Amino acid sequence: MGLVAGKIAIVTGAGANIGEACAKMLAAQGASVVIADINVAGAHRVADEITAAGGRALAHGVDLGDEGSIAALIAATIAHFGKLDVLHNNAANTGAGQMNRDGALTAMEQDVWDAAFAINTRGTMLMTKHAVPHLIVAGGGSIINTSSGVSLLGDVLNPAYSASKAAVNALTRNTATQFGRQNVRCNAVLPGLVLSPVARAQMTEAQLAMIQRHVLLPRESVANDIAGAVTWLASDLAGFVTGQIISVDGGICHHQPHYADMMDMFAAAQA
Ligand SMILES: NC(=O)c1ccc[n+]([C@@H]2O[C@H](COP(=O)([O-])OP(=O)(O)OC[C@H]3O[C@@H](n4cnc5c(N)ncnc54)[C@H](O)[C@@H]3O)[C@@H](O)[C@H]2O)c1
Repeated sequence: MGLVAGKIAIVTGAGANIGEACAKMLAAQGASVVIADINVAGAHRVADEITAAGGRALAHGVDLGDEGSIAALIAATIAHFGKLDVLHNNAANTGAGQMNRDGALTAMEQDVWDAAFAINTRGTMLMTKHAVPHLIVAGGGSIINTSSGVSLLGDVLNPAYSASKAAVNALTRNTATQFGRQNVRCNAVLPGLVLSPVARAQMTEAQLAMIQRHVLLPRESVANDIAGAVTWLASDLAGFVTGQIISVDGGICHHQPHYADMMDMFAAAQA
């Protein structure tokens, strides 16, 4: 028996990278998973791979910027699987065209700000709005919102993205508070840096090393680190956990700012 055997789950943005890893781990642990993505080809690839591995999955195209499309995703899930137990709001507006324009606040264009909130925050809210009645009918359920470490700390880039994810943290606590008595739990996971092959190709070794020296654990993060936390939160093992903002980042957001310099100083003293 898997950790989430018999549960029906939707994972948004499951057609690639972190969402794909989460959907595959949920399926491997016994859930039936709706692979929801605006990238329909990616959704079908992931659903086919889950099915080929012996799991149960349904690919469904969705645009989180469109409430009608969200309502249709929920309706298709209920029509196909009969109920809903788990919603993982993973998708975000992370395309290069968006993130490359999300820079200095003095040059911020309104459409960039709005596009971050339309998908990352409003999309998460609308998925919650349409999913919660079905979670309640099922006797309760688990919503997991993917936020980001940058929702907690200031950065020099991507203020619209950061603010939209900080709003996801607030939405998480409000969802947990509004529906806790109906046994609907809601928590957020905050990844640090999880490099997709495309993202890795865009970074220099020096950039990677600069970030990695602030991670407390001695390796880079991988998508399955996030999938492990998501699967636990989806499972009944986390049945009394709600309203939590959980970093899965190797500790990068949770130490004194001088940590890396101090480590270098100690190393130099011992040399
Ligand atoms: N990768 C990281 O280092 C990192 C760090 C912190 C937080 N996160 C968060 O983790 C989540 C997954 O990140 P990732 O790196 O796998 O991102 P990604 O860009 O690889 O995947 C995002 C997925 O969302 C889908 N998507 C985008 N817009 C959509 C829309 N309008 N409707 C439906 N689907 C849409 C994309 O097609 C894609 O499959 C995101 O919420 C991201 O903000 C990632």
